[in-house]
Amino acid sequence: MSEQHVLTERDGAILTIRLNRPDKKNALTRAMYNGMAEALSQAAIDESVRVVILAGGTDFTAGNDIKDFAAVGDRPATEPGAAFSFLETILDFEKPVIAAVRGYAVGIGTTMLLHADVVVASETARLQMPFTKLALVPEAGSSVLLPARVGPARANWWFLSGAPISGAEAAQAGLASRAVPDNEVEPVALEMAKQLAALPPGSVAETKRLVKAPHRAMVKEAMAAERVAFAERLRTSEAQEIFAAFLKK
Ligand code: COA
Repeated sequence: MSEQHVLTERDGAILTIRLNRPDKKNALTRAMYNGMAEALSQAAIDESVRVVILAGGTDFTAGNDIKDFAAVGDRPATEPGAAFSFLETILDFEKPVIAAVRGYAVGIGTTMLLHADVVVASETARLQMPFTKLALVPEAGSSVLLPARVGPARANWWFLSGAPISGAEAAQAGLASRAVPDNEVEPVALEMAKQLAALPPGSVAETKRLVKAPHRAMVKEAMAAERVAFAERLRTSEAQEIFAAFLKK
C-alpha cells in the first residue's frame, strides 16, 4: 500500500521521512509524492518538529516511476502532477531539510537534493540525471539551481550526458555537503539534525529564508518553464518508446 511506501519516524524534534519501496529501488509513484508532501505539510505546522531528514534505505530513489511516465500520455498536460505539488511543498518548507543519500539517486532523486539544506551522501552513492537518455528535460528548478551550485561547466555535462556522479564527486562539486562511508550516512545525518534542532528555531528558519530568498523567484519561474517542457517531452514518441523498452525489460 502507498502509505507504507513513505514512512515517518520521530526522534525528539527530528522527523525522518523515509521512502520505503525497496523492491523498486524506491521509484516514486504519485501516491509517494503525495505522502512526502503530506508529511512535510504536517511537519510545517507541528511546532515540535524542528528538522526533517529525507531518507531512503540502501537506495535513495531510482526517480519517478517509469510506469507513471508511460501512462502520462493519457492525461492532459495541464493537470498539475503530484511531483510538481511535492516540489512546491518542499520549496515553501521553512524548517531545515537534511537528505541522507545512499545507493541510487536518479532523476528527481538528484534534483530534489537541490531543495535540501544539507545533503549527506554515501561516497559510493550513484547520482544521475538521465533526462536526455529518457528524451526528457531537467525539472525541479534544476536548470537554474544546478549551474548555480556546481558551475555551468559541470552542470552542462551532467545534464547533457546523463553521466552518473558518485557521492564523493557530488561532495567535491558542492552538490552534496558531505560524502561519508555508506554505513555512516544515517548516523551523520542524524547528528547534524540534532545540532540544528538544538538551535533557536526562529533564527534557523529566518536564516534558511534569507539564503533561499535571492533565488526564489528565479526557481519558481524555472520550475514553471521546465514543467511545460517536461509535460510536452513526456508525450513525445521518442520518450514513450524509451519508457516502453524499460518496462518490457
Ligand atoms: N520506475 C519503475 N520501476 C523501476 C524504476 C523506475 N524509475 N527503477 C527501478 N525500477 C524497478 C525495476 O523495473 C525492477 O523491477 P522488477 O524487479 O519488477 O523487474 C526493480 O526496480 C529493480 O531495478 P533493476 O533495474 O533490476 O535494478 P538494477 O540494479 O539493475 O538497476 C537502476 C538500477 C536504477 C540503474 C535501474 O533500475 C534504472 O535505470 N531505473 C530507471 C531510472 C530512471 O530512469 N528513472 C527516471 C529518471 S527521470
